[in-house]
Amino acid sequence: MFNNVTIIGSGLMGHGIALKFAQFGFGVTVFDPNEGSLNTLFDRINRSLTQMAIPASKIKKILSSITKSSKLLESVQTADLIIEAVPEKLELKQNIFKEIESLSNSKCIFASNTSVIPITKIVEKMHDKSRALGTHWWNPPHLIPLVEVIRTKWTDENYILKTIDVLNKIEKIPVRVEKDVPGFIGNRLQHALWREAISLVENGVCDAKSVDTVIKSSFGRRLSVLGPLENADLVGTDLTLDVHENVLYDLESSKKPSKLLNNLVKGGKLGMKSGEGFREWEKGDLEKVKSKISKYLRELENII
Ligand SMILES: NC(=O)c1ccc[n+]([C@@H]2O[C@H](COP(=O)([O-])OP(=O)(O)OC[C@H]3O[C@@H](n4cnc5c(N)ncnc54)[C@H](O)[C@@H]3O)[C@@H](O)[C@H]2O)c1
Repeated sequence: MFNNVTIIGSGLMGHGIALKFAQFGFGVTVFDPNEGSLNTLFDRINRSLTQMAIPASKIKKILSSITKSSKLLESVQTADLIIEAVPEKLELKQNIFKEIESLSNSKCIFASNTSVIPITKIVEKMHDKSRALGTHWWNPPHLIPLVEVIRTKWTDENYILKTIDVLNKIEKIPVRVEKDVPGFIGNRLQHALWREAISLVENGVCDAKSVDTVIKSSFGRRLSVLGPLENADLVGTDLTLDVHENVLYDLESSKKPSKLLNNLVKGGKLGMKSGEGFREWEKGDLEKVKSKISKYLRELENII
């Protein structure tokens, strides 16, 4: 039974993960050594809850169940579940897992929100690895329902079940990842698509805007209600086999990031934040795109 949840890291993901647990009545502590990030935490949570159309009286109650702290021991000692959401740096995560294990109680479950680093590597320095697993939330964490629950070869099944149970309680959609592979399920699928998208542009098949238009105006429209394997069954596995016989041989299969992507980064073309990436952007586009995504995700909740 979980009562207290601690989030390590109060950034983009940490604020949304904290918000979801607090929304469903859990006592939440958010730890971050960076006072600057902690100082803006309640404002950011308030903004996200307002975006979710939560009434002001309920927001007040949710915020009152969250404690922020820059002291690690007091943040973790009574926690039943600790979710780490610090920057994607292996050594930093490894050291945090080792330290929180020594400061917390013997039944506490430890979860990492890493995007792609194998959990096996992150928990390497722990003594009791049976209580460690991955919970990969998606951005924005308060609006995207999926959480991938990743087991390592050491993870005890009981802790996987307890984690899935608590995620169901806060109305997330947990999916089990039975092998600790880099990128888990979602990011492997996503980046297989991105690799092909970049390759089409690099090989002069079309420009970057066309790639985005094709996806957004065709299969992207039905992806929320029809996954690829449902789709294969819908059209028939026989048709799927025929298509694969005739196209797979020509798809991008490089094991390394493309030259085009490397050159963009080397040339300072970092995307919306710098004004140019694969496409050109104007000041203000970043915020416009983010708010379009939030509006779409909120509306989707009422449709699906
Ligand atoms: N941003 C995304 O879209 C996304 C999606 C899914 C998963 N993730 C993963 O979630 C994790 C966090 O990403 P984010 O986007 O929230 O990063 P972020 O930079 O917004 O937040 C990280 C926070 O960790 C804090 N921090 C740094 N060192 C710390 C320490 N030693 N102890 C505690 N806190 C510390 C920072 O002060 C900051 O507030 C990463 O592993 C990332 O790969 C990110």
